[in-house]
Amino acid sequence: MATDNTAWQVRANPGRRTLVTGGAGFIGSHLVDRLVELGHQVIAVDDLSTGRMANLVDHPSVERVAGSVLDAPLLDELTSRVDEVYHLAAAVGVNTILKDPLRSLRTNLHGTEIVLNAALRHQVQVMVMSSSEVYGMNTSDGLTEDDDRVLGSPLLARWSYAEAKAVVETLAYAYWRNEGLPTVIVRPFNIVGPRQTGRYGMVIPRLVGQALRDEPLSVYGDGRQTRCFCHVREAVDAMVALIGHPDAYGQAFNLGRPEEVSIRELAERVIELSGSSSSIQYVPYSKAYGEGFQDMRRRVPDITKLRDLIGFEPRLGLDTIVMSVLEDQRQSRTAELSTLGGRG
Ligand SMILES: NC(=O)c1ccc[n+]([C@@H]2O[C@H](COP(=O)([O-])OP(=O)(O)OC[C@H]3O[C@@H](n4cnc5c(N)ncnc54)[C@H](O)[C@@H]3O)[C@@H](O)[C@H]2O)c1
Repeated sequence: MATDNTAWQVRANPGRRTLVTGGAGFIGSHLVDRLVELGHQVIAVDDLSTGRMANLVDHPSVERVAGSVLDAPLLDELTSRVDEVYHLAAAVGVNTILKDPLRSLRTNLHGTEIVLNAALRHQVQVMVMSSSEVYGMNTSDGLTEDDDRVLGSPLLARWSYAEAKAVVETLAYAYWRNEGLPTVIVRPFNIVGPRQTGRYGMVIPRLVGQALRDEPLSVYGDGRQTRCFCHVREAVDAMVALIGHPDAYGQAFNLGRPEEVSIRELAERVIELSGSSSSIQYVPYSKAYGEGFQDMRRRVPDITKLRDLIGFEPRLGLDTIVMSVLEDQRQSRTAELSTLGGRG
């Protein structure tokens, strides 16, 4: 049986047992939703540092585990009960990384090694989430998977996430190459949708939150830097199609939607779609992130490799993406207000 809501085919796989690390996070919880729809038995493990158990669907096929990927015995036990692992647990978001680069490095490096070790012991497929951050400041028109990386000094905390994700990729590749473990590497480019929070530096939920509160929308720098946004629903379908594909092992894939938008245009779109009376306020990078912050002017994925392998063709455009975040935040605000009202 296959579902037809996307161009590519995502197959139902009743009874398949899947572990999702970081399962209570933004992408993780959408992945869990999709896996449940496809008939999987899912274990979601999360230390709840940025995720929330409330993100997870309440369903008999989902086992929730509050714990860390740094807990090797726990990971070993969970992995012994599954057929595949999606490894999403990571310290994520520019704010998180700038605040505590050491924690980010430990989770992303040591955590990944623990996950890969457990997968090797129990001989299960693994998908590791890298990031488009590995390309650093390479502003080429359509980054392909084997393009060069352009990074600032390793002493700038801002690049520690990119450094760690690059090592994560090298590790996953080495486990495939040297040990024959079926690993797949994914490099997401700004995945967005409901449940993503603006607290850790993600731009769309942050701007949407400001618009709904009728506050000025803070756009960093001159706002002419561009980004590409992809809806999380399409991203998780691509991940499911990819993990089971034998031609994907030992390889990295860009995951995103190549349409570029400047942050200034994005802010204008958010104001219009929300009907907000907010204005745009330009904030220097030094004020937003401290002195010495290096940003990239653009980062555009070439998704030919993913398209050729699984037929990936993202169709949900920017307005749909922004509207889905608006709707989600409106619902959360209404729920919060009714809770407060109930207390009063
Ligand atoms: N959202 C994006 O656009 C994007 C872009 C590039 C890469 N990624 C990668 O995708 C993955 C998911 O990101 P997300 O956007 O859903 O962010 P997220 O913060 O919502 O998800 C990460 C999850 O990992 C959990 N976590 C952190 N440390 C942990 C630990 N030690 N043990 C167990 N759980 C832990 C967090 O609580 C959170 O639920 C991450 O690996 C991230 O690096 C996301």
